[in-house]
Amino acid sequence: MARLLTEWVNVTGNIAIVARESGEVWFHTLSGTKEAADPFATPMTGAGAKGSTIGLLDGAINLGFAGIERRLARPDLTLAGYVVALVGAYHTSVDTARNLQRAAKRFEELGRPEIAAYLEVRAREETGHDRLALKDLRALGVPGERLVANFIPEGIKPLCKRFDDLCVEDYPIGCVGYSYCLERIAALKQKTDIEKVQALCPDGVDATRFLRSHSCLGSEVSHVEETIEFVASLPANDRISAIQETYQSALIMAEGYNHELLKSGAEMLEELRQAVGEPLPSIAGSCSSYAAKLGVQPAA
Ligand SMILES: [Fe+2]
Ligand SMILES: [Fe+2]
Repeated sequence: MARLLTEWVNVTGNIAIVARESGEVWFHTLSGTKEAADPFATPMTGAGAKGSTIGLLDGAINLGFAGIERRLARPDLTLAGYVVALVGAYHTSVDTARNLQRAAKRFEELGRPEIAAYLEVRAREETGHDRLALKDLRALGVPGERLVANFIPEGIKPLCKRFDDLCVEDYPIGCVGYSYCLERIAALKQKTDIEKVQALCPDGVDATRFLRSHSCLGSEVSHVEETIEFVASLPANDRISAIQETYQSALIMAEGYNHELLKSGAEMLEELRQAVGEPLPSIAGSCSSYAAKLGVQPAA
């Protein structure tokens, strides 16, 4: 019987994620002293497979969030919180197509047309997603353009910077790992999560365009599938880099959520008021609430 393929990636310096084609995944602590005896101490060199690639990518996200999961804030979300999340969604999607096209051009120059072609497709698929967030803001009676021009939530800034930086690297394969992290987390959102946001919005207002698109009901599901197959097809050194970046992006994302979720509804409302230069009566009155983790999260 053929042996099941095993893949591994060292993501922290002393922890390797190990995944089998069967779907089995575990975290392996590298001893650091007996390299010869530890099969996971040296980088993998073989071909990838879909089952093990899923395990490595999702393992990287789980490990990235594990460090702060216990202290992650879980306040109730208000409509003000949802508006802040939509602003974050706008900022994490407004430059996506341009950044991916830049990375694609670089891979073309490097003689890697297969990576360039994948990134070009992704750039096309992501075009216009920032406008979904703007429409949602407008639907809530918020001057969306003015708000996003004056305000980037603090917790979102490092994530935006990370993606900008990755896409201008000499070898920008990290942008694949970053995108996977954001899209995979978005695709976890369920229909019930969207219904809870809708219940928060005034009657007759459709302010969940971005959320629907970036949930299990939208295009994120196929984006995640496509990325898994693409990563599995890459040479080992590219798979390693992409998965290491998925871990780094998850760390940054987790820290950012924690920062934003620790704010009270009143603090968020005040941030929004200052950004637009006037009170926002259409969202100030809402006191409906629900678990904050179900709100809109940034997505590529
Ligand atoms: Fe996407
Ligand atoms: Fe998107």
